[in-house]
Amino acid sequence: MTRAAVVAAVGAALPASVVSNEDLTARLDTTDEWIRSRTGITRRHVAAAEESTADLAVRAAAQALTSGEPDHVDTLVLATTTPDRCCPATAPAVATRLGLTGIPAFDLAAGCTGFLYALATGAGLIAAATARTVLVIGADRLASLPHPHDRTTVPLFGDGAGALLLRHGTAGKPGALGPVVLGSDGTGADLIRADHPGALHMDGADVFRRAVDRMTTASRQAATAAGWDLGDVDRLVPHQANSRITSFVARQLGVPDGRQLSNVAEVGNTGAASIPLLLARASSDGRLKPGHRTLLTAFGAGLTWGALTLTWPDLTRTHRLEGAPA
Ligand code: COA
Repeated sequence: MTRAAVVAAVGAALPASVVSNEDLTARLDTTDEWIRSRTGITRRHVAAAEESTADLAVRAAAQALTSGEPDHVDTLVLATTTPDRCCPATAPAVATRLGLTGIPAFDLAAGCTGFLYALATGAGLIAAATARTVLVIGADRLASLPHPHDRTTVPLFGDGAGALLLRHGTAGKPGALGPVVLGSDGTGADLIRADHPGALHMDGADVFRRAVDRMTTASRQAATAAGWDLGDVDRLVPHQANSRITSFVARQLGVPDGRQLSNVAEVGNTGAASIPLLLARASSDGRLKPGHRTLLTAFGAGLTWGALTLTWPDLTRTHRLEGAPA
């Protein structure tokens, strides 16, 4: 039996404050119709000034820990493009606030693909028997990156956090992460960039084309590596950049609309939080059910991209995890 990382619990957190498209029209030269038709977004959650990436990460992770009930967590990986400070990393503070002082905890920056990179890292630690349980968090405050008056970027982004608890298990079983496909291309580093908060620059049209291309290719590779036909996919969970990008990806993969999960209308592009927020939402509202063959894919600044498969597990029962190091 091959050792693998298995999803044991999910958690999610969104800031209380909601900014609708109508709210944006009061301060930007834009319309609800433009934003909705070009992006599929109708509103987004935006953190209060005093609400940090760590605050969101702690809330999402605490939910995953409450439902997963691990006896011990061996490692915490925080995917984020918006750490609270340049130095130190945000993850150790998050770990301490969760009562996990002493464990390895580190940030991982891979843009909107960060969560898949973090899952791959957690899965690798578990496969190598370095860890038995890994808490993987994606948290971002992307709404802080655009210039407040830039109508081309402000409508796209929102804030949030999501978390998955991984535990050791057996490859091929429900919840086990399949082979991970990851990539990067620094020649596109300037296409999405921010030297500091409020200074985001994005070449939207080029990013759009590359996002469709990379997510489609990575998805095909991940499905092949898992031994799946794309027709086997019950649920496509693409990074929620915008609904036109994800629809193109689904169409190119031949995944029918009804099998594609989305929450971009309610949360916008939440960066590294995007995929776990969508998994948490869809598993709680019944769109994602135990046994669904699920394909995750993402694309982001860097440029970075990735994809992986898993069969969604039954998370309704309590998982009591063994705590001793492997
Ligand atoms: N409201 C009204 N008009 C707007 C606008 C807004 N919020 N934002 C841009 N426009 C205008 C532009 O100024 C431009 O006007 P012009 O023709 O007079 O110059 C026009 O709309 C078309 O702009 P364009 O950038 O070509 O639109 P688009 O159809 O490419 O859509 C994006 C723009 C950003 C929605 C689209 O390129 C996109 O989704 N890109 C990917 C972004 C993304 O997801 N990035 C993150 C990846 S992880």
